[in-house]
Amino acid sequence: MAVGIFDSGLGGLTVLNAVQARLPEVDFVYLADSAHAPYGVRTPDDIYNLTTAAVQRLFDAGCDLVILACNTASAAALRRMQERWVPSDKRVLGVFVPMIEALTERQWGDNSPPREVAVQHVALFATPATVSSRAFQRELAFRAIGVDVEAQACGGVVDAIEDGDMILAEALVQSHVDALKRKMPDPDAAILGCTHYPLMQEAFQKALGADVKVFSQADLVAESLADYLARRPEMLGKGEAACLTTGDPAQVSSRATQFLRRQMIFTAA
Ligand code: DGL
Repeated sequence: MAVGIFDSGLGGLTVLNAVQARLPEVDFVYLADSAHAPYGVRTPDDIYNLTTAAVQRLFDAGCDLVILACNTASAAALRRMQERWVPSDKRVLGVFVPMIEALTERQWGDNSPPREVAVQHVALFATPATVSSRAFQRELAFRAIGVDVEAQACGGVVDAIEDGDMILAEALVQSHVDALKRKMPDPDAAILGCTHYPLMQEAFQKALGADVKVFSQADLVAESLADYLARRPEMLGKGEAACLTTGDPAQVSSRATQFLRRQMIFTAA
């Protein structure tokens, strides 16, 4: 009985960690498309083709439900996949909706018309592909009115984190927050819209100031998945727990072990 978790690389391990802690009785098959990461600088067609291939691999591993932990894949590919690719007995869910429900203080499945909410000025930090998809603004518009969103494409941050260069990553976070503040001087809330950014949460909070509420997705996604599985237990699937990568398993295992500070063993996808 396993649920699939997909990410372009290691960043989705922040989500894996949270869902494993929230749902210890559930097995997860994690697939990192390390051979093709980063996705954040790719075209929408490219992201769609890579994401469908990876999700098919998770279906083949026995997963009936796959979570796209990758914001870039959720933003650039999910809607198209749901409209014309996902078989009727499978489900693919993204990471934006749980975050927007938290931001707009909505319960899952509340499909009432968009309404005014507490936050008015929201800063979105994400990869270039996520920002140019405008998927976040589209999903938000279904649920809230009068919210001003300013998006900042955070070039370089994912690469710096993947390379383990946290000093560079911190300097880049500061400069992206400065750039955002030139466009929106006083955001009420900030969305960390990339799997890697929770690792830099302190740097974002410090650069934004203590008054800005920072939303980070791992725990929100875990809560939302627990809620979904309580309603749809048949979507647990048949697979067994595994960590798969399209990259070099030895290298990915060693980076993942550093990343989560516990032993992680990846095998070839
Ligand atoms: N995992 C991606 C995301 O959440 C970031 C890494 C990438 O660019 O592939 O947006």
